[in-house]
Amino acid sequence: MSAGRLAASAALLALAASPVMAQGDTAARFTQAQADNGAELYRDNCAMCHGPHLNDGEFGPSLNGARFKRQWAGNGVGGLFAYLRAAMPPTRTSVLKSDEYADLMAFLFQANGAKAGDKPLPDTAEALSGLTVPK
Ligand code: HEC
Repeated sequence: MSAGRLAASAALLALAASPVMAQGDTAARFTQAQADNGAELYRDNCAMCHGPHLNDGEFGPSLNGARFKRQWAGNGVGGLFAYLRAAMPPTRTSVLKSDEYADLMAFLFQANGAKAGDKPLPDTAEALSGLTVPK
């Protein structure tokens, strides 16, 4: 291969690599409809412990602000999804469905500063893998 062709292939490689790097933003997306439904589910299933404003609960830790960021932001959404399905609401973990947990996560992301968009948050562990909790 000539030096010229080598340079050309290097340039092509660099081009091919750039879209991959653009995908480095793995922050999970969600819709406003999901966040709205999540807000309702939160009121009915979570607020009695975590508080109506997410940080004023008598029986559960704050779900917004510094603590939520420290615990979850930048980590896999799958971890949060699995945690919620296994543990929340405590003693009543069978009442909510997968899509309802996705809506609750959308609500929590929005409450922590993320913006809704037009891409819904998936509700299966497979589809969530690779996505991270928005920072
Ligand atoms: C009966 C009270 C109660 C209810 C209802 C409840 N939680 Fe919790 N939640 C807790 C407690 C207590 C913890 C702390 C558990 C621990 O640290 O092991 C917790 C922890 C959490 C955490 C982890 C917080 C952190 O930063 O460590 C999340 C997220 C969460 N709850 C979300 C929810 C959601 C969403 C709902 C409604 C579907 C809900 N919880 C309902 C009591 C409750």
